[in-house]
Amino acid sequence: MPLTRRDFLISGSLSLAAGAFSPLVVGAEKTKPNTPADFKDWESVRREFELAPGYVHLALFFLASHPRPVRQAIEHYREKIDSNPLIAVDTAIFEAGNENIPLQICRAIASYIGGDPQDIALTQNTTTGLALLYHGLPLREGDEILTTTHDHYVHHESIRLATGRCGATWRKIPLFDSYDSISPDEIAQRVRKAIGPKTRAVGVTWVHSSSGVRLPIARIAWDATRLRPAPTNGCSGPAAPGSFGQSPEFGRKCAR
Ligand SMILES: Cc1ncc(COP(=O)(O)O)c(C=O)c1O
Repeated sequence: MPLTRRDFLISGSLSLAAGAFSPLVVGAEKTKPNTPADFKDWESVRREFELAPGYVHLALFFLASHPRPVRQAIEHYREKIDSNPLIAVDTAIFEAGNENIPLQICRAIASYIGGDPQDIALTQNTTTGLALLYHGLPLREGDEILTTTHDHYVHHESIRLATGRCGATWRKIPLFDSYDSISPDEIAQRVRKAIGPKTRAVGVTWVHSSSGVRLPIARIAWDATRLRPAPTNGCSGPAAPGSFGQSPEFGRKCAR
């Protein structure tokens, strides 16, 4: 019998729940050595995950399996909450010190991509982040938002709804014609040429989830900022921080 998406979700979450409550799993986790993974050795990276070895897992962008450090962090917080629920949650969310989890996350992201932790806003998902961003822009009739034909549905919808509220317009351009002939120079040039006098924001996706294409994002941000006196660069990047490292120079360029 074929496995439907619904069956998969139900059996997946049941086995997840069974695993989470199994003392064997928790016990095994605790006795595992804490040696860091060797990121140059695929087998060592693979051992960080508890994925069933009998499958080729091609859907991890959909539901992720946690690597060992993440499982250990979850277990650590679970123990803290179990031992003192109110203090653990209160400290993690409301105190200003190093125990404040959202603050720690903002600091870690800022140091990874470059920039200031105060400029990082945490949202529950990309759709919410994009909606907040575009609906917060001070757009007026006659303004335009430039985006690309490759962008995700939720990105296009955010722009459509934000521009529709005030009589602004939006435009989509292709960044390349074929996957066989993609050039960072051409991508940057196409965006540069498309920015016009009415353009108030440029919205692109850093790492395209449908193809893995990564945009020369720092160059696009740099060009947009130079071409328009006060442009805003909207960059959707749900997969980007996990995809590759960026230098602090990237954050500084984007922040300008
Ligand atoms: C490029 C891109 N933008 C936006 C989204 C929507 O993300 P979310 O489900 O986090 O709202 C996705 C989801 O796959 C995506 O790949």
